[in-house]
Amino acid sequence: MALIEVENLAITFKTQKGEITPVRGITFNLEEGESLGVVGESGSGKSLTNLAIMGLLPPNAIVTADKLLFNGQDLLNLSDFSWQKIRGEKMAMIFQDAMTALNPCYNVEFQIQETLKIHTSLNRKERLERCIHLLDLVGIADPNSRLKSFPHELSGGMAQRVMIAIALACNPKVLIADEPTTALDVTIQDQILKLITEIQEKNKMALILVTHDIGVVSEFSKNIQVMYAGEIVEKGPTKEIIKYPRHPYTQGLLNSRPGHSVIFRERLPSISGLVPDMRQRPLGCQFRPRCTFASENCERPIELYPSQFAFEKNRSEHNSTMMSITTPSVRQIRCIHPLEGERNA
Ligand SMILES: Nc1ncnc2c1ncn2[C@@H]1O[C@H](COP(=O)(O)OP(=O)(O)O)[C@@H](O)[C@H]1O
Ligand code: SF4
Ligand SMILES: [Mg+2]
Repeated sequence: MALIEVENLAITFKTQKGEITPVRGITFNLEEGESLGVVGESGSGKSLTNLAIMGLLPPNAIVTADKLLFNGQDLLNLSDFSWQKIRGEKMAMIFQDAMTALNPCYNVEFQIQETLKIHTSLNRKERLERCIHLLDLVGIADPNSRLKSFPHELSGGMAQRVMIAIALACNPKVLIADEPTTALDVTIQDQILKLITEIQEKNKMALILVTHDIGVVSEFSKNIQVMYAGEIVEKGPTKEIIKYPRHPYTQGLLNSRPGHSVIFRERLPSISGLVPDMRQRPLGCQFRPRCTFASENCERPIELYPSQFAFEKNRSEHNSTMMSITTPSVRQIRCIHPLEGERNA
């Protein structure tokens, strides 16, 4: 049994201008200890999908799914009490802007202690020890004195470390990090992402790392899930997807990375055009208006399907340059004219 099982998830909002479904047909599993990078342009439904898993969507969101399970437990019909047991204790989430997520009125110790009080039976002394341990774990020097700091006394990077410490307070089984470093400068970004992935491996915790930057997932996640216009368009092991992107959108994302001069056999130098308006979705493939490989057949509904066969064929053709992959590749794609070539980076 996977840790998180999502089948046919859709999220709908009733707005003044009519109903929109910015997320639809989302199906994926997250295994225990898996590290999954979710990537896609802004507005592709990454945050909504993960907020649905955490039960944190705004009240006007209508969530439907054939399955939305955490450890076999149905998340669609949970009581507030059960949510409280899961959220913070078994699943935790960190956001882009730590400064606004932290409460400006309370010091660091109070905010970590709050989580420990709700979710553990630790006594006062044990909680204090745990606070110090957590700050130490997230690389904050002199934890004893830092516990007394208020959020405005922390740098952006330090505030993000405190938020990670709060998220890790109860050793969750899964951490969802939604653009955790977008607000930070590049050097600090790297340090925080290294910290998150080190802790993920050490604690054997599952991690969903959400980012608009495919460079970040390619470095820090073992698997990638590419989202476009509220749908998953490609999924698989990072190393394979970086070398053999099969969906034209994934290829476009890789090609758009700043500072990376890349040549593709089938070129798509950058992605022109915009993510579709949710009120006027195109027929069939959502990427069609921007895709240079589109045909009339792309106007029909296109499902996500396993692309193992084509990839295996591809693999034998390029055997000499193939990196060593010991497990069979489990890849999925939502495209009827998938790319076959190897990407030369
Ligand atoms: N509260 C809301 N009400 C109506 N539409 C929303 C709301 N939140 C998000 N959306 C729509 O869902 C789309 C996807 O949002 P989001 O999941 O935040 O994208 P991402 O995290 O990939 O940038 C947005 O572009 C917007 O159209
Ligand atoms: S299904 Fe068609 S339009 Fe969509 S990405 Fe594939 S080739 Fe392009
Ligand atoms: Mg987002």
